[in-house]
This record gives sequence, C-alpha cells and structure tokens, in this order.
Amino acid sequence: MSLIYVLNGPNLNLLGKRQPRIYGHETLADVEADCRKLASELGHEIRFHQSNREYEIIDWIHEAREDGAGIVINPAAFTHTSLAILDALNTFEGPVIEIHISNVHKRESFRHHSFVSHRADGVIAGLGTEGYQLGIRRVATMLKVPKKE
Ligand code: DQA
Repeated sequence: MSLIYVLNGPNLNLLGKRQPRIYGHETLADVEADCRKLASELGHEIRFHQSNREYEIIDWIHEAREDGAGIVINPAAFTHTSLAILDALNTFEGPVIEIHISNVHKRESFRHHSFVSHRADGVIAGLGTEGYQLGIRRVATMLKVPKKE
C-alpha cells in the first residue's frame, strides 16, 4: 500500500458552484469521495488537500517527499504562474500527474502555458473530474513499474 497525494489549487473549493458550465456540478467533496474509493480499490491510500495559498501546496509537496509515493495535482491558476510549485515538484522523486478539469488548450491563451508540465509525467485536461480517477490509476500503474537505474 502506498500513499498518493491529491493536491488542489485555488478556487477549487468552489467546485460545483464555480462556473459549472466549465467545471461541472460535482463538488470537491464528491471528487474526494471518488478518489478515496478508487484508491482503496487499487490498494492505496490518499491524502487529499485543497488550498488557496501557494505555500500550503508547496508544504504538502515537501511532506510528500517524506511519505508520499506519487502526486496527482490540479494546481488550478497556479499552473500558469508558479515557478515555486514547479521547483517543489522537481524535488519529488515519484510519479506526478497534472490534472485540469477543463481543456485549458481550448481556452484563453494565458492558460496554455503550464509551469507544472515541465515536471509532470503526464497531463490530463478536459476530461472533467474523471481526470482525477485517471490520474490516480496512472500513478498506481507507474508505482508498479520498477524504476530504471
Ligand atoms: C483548471 C484550469 C485553470 O486554468 C484554472 O485556473 C483553474 C482550474 C482546471 O481544472 O480546468 O482554476 O486547473
């Protein structure tokens, strides 16, 4: 059993109420429940967090360095602004999957660049909240593959 961190950036606490045409009607609590269910089916545990503060996300990444096997992260708007989150992720050795509920490439050009993608092993965008499930599955698969020397 491994511990997977699922981290969420700013404004995702409003999921379900915030621009539902873009982000859907599911709340973050619904997403968390689905993630917990899937993780336990896959034999893993998750630590699920959301913050509107960049430093908290960085602190959770540092925590994951100690006890986390993988990270699924939706950095939200910090995706496009945060070199500090990229630097933190670069200190983490396990698999990292970046999630966006919406298809950021179909949206404004300022959403097309991601600092986090410079580190992410995979990026899922535009598949709605199902992206979290796919991200957890991918981390679980990557954890099974022995690391190359
Ligand atoms: C988002 C996309 C970001 O551009 C935006 O700032 C968000 C959410 C998504 O999940 O689609 O807050 O990461």
